[in-house]
Amino acid sequence: MLVTGASGGIGSACARAFAEEGCRVVLHYHRGEERARTLSEELGGAPALAADLTDEEQVDRLFTEARDELGGLEVCAAVAGVWPKPDEPVWELSLARWEETLRANLTATFLTARGFLREVARSGHGSLVMIGSTAGLVEAGHADYAAAKSAIVHGLLLSLKNEVVRIAPRARVNAVCPGWTESPMTRSSLSPALVERITRTMPLRKVATPEDVARQVVALASDRISGHVTGQVVSVAGGMEGRVVHE
Ligand SMILES: NC(=O)c1ccc[n+]([C@@H]2O[C@H](COP(=O)([O-])OP(=O)(O)OC[C@H]3O[C@@H](n4cnc5c(N)ncnc54)[C@H](OP(=O)(O)O)[C@@H]3O)[C@@H](O)[C@H]2O)c1
Repeated sequence: MLVTGASGGIGSACARAFAEEGCRVVLHYHRGEERARTLSEELGGAPALAADLTDEEQVDRLFTEARDELGGLEVCAAVAGVWPKPDEPVWELSLARWEETLRANLTATFLTARGFLREVARSGHGSLVMIGSTAGLVEAGHADYAAAKSAIVHGLLLSLKNEVVRIAPRARVNAVCPGWTESPMTRSSLSPALVERITRTMPLRKVATPEDVARQVVALASDRISGHVTGQVVSVAGGMEGRVVHE
């Protein structure tokens, strides 16, 4: 199986969780080679492969290399993504940032899904789990990121789950939407005041750990646990209902 963004907080937790289940895991990274190598050592020498997932050729090469490493791929967790930290309202959002965010999230996930589905076409079976976000689902802000994640867990997901069975009758595609999760992506933002604010709409009043998210990814990827589950979106957000818009 392949985890994209395995050099990141949630991706590395996914890689560990899949490895704990006995999966042979290929780790993907982009700029975080050192983090990927450290994880590789921890996981007994799991192959670590680099690719910029916004680049078509690099994504295609990643899947060829992953297949060479494992002889085939049956599971893919498409975890890589980018959250641009500055909170810029739409009237101040540049076209460059809009396009960059869509490319780093939506286009990268499309290219990953396409690469994986070509493997599914070869093997006749597969399970894909994509990572969305509560952004664009039950909360908003960061319009570029929310729009990209929303497209992944709606239009892309629903199309993929219907298309994949044309090449593999039991293949499945699902999505996990983390809410706020402790990771390098959010570490500098999660002040006690922000945590107090964001947990106000959450009955389970805490920020998620990467492991909370990873276990759900593994459960959806598993044919044993989720063999008749496809096209579904599972939030790992403590029951979040939205965001506080006014004090
Ligand atoms: N943390 C949260 O609160 C939260 C909430 C909702 C959804 N999510 C989503 O969860 C996923 C993982 O986030 P995280 O919190 O684990 O963040 P993270 O620690 O910053 O990890 C992001 C990962 O994406 C990879 N990546 C970024 N741009 C890439 C590119 N152009 N090509 C290939 N890989 C690229 C990074 O690779 P390198 O580091 O190697 O460059 C890294 O492995 C993302 O899709 C994110 O949007 C996170």
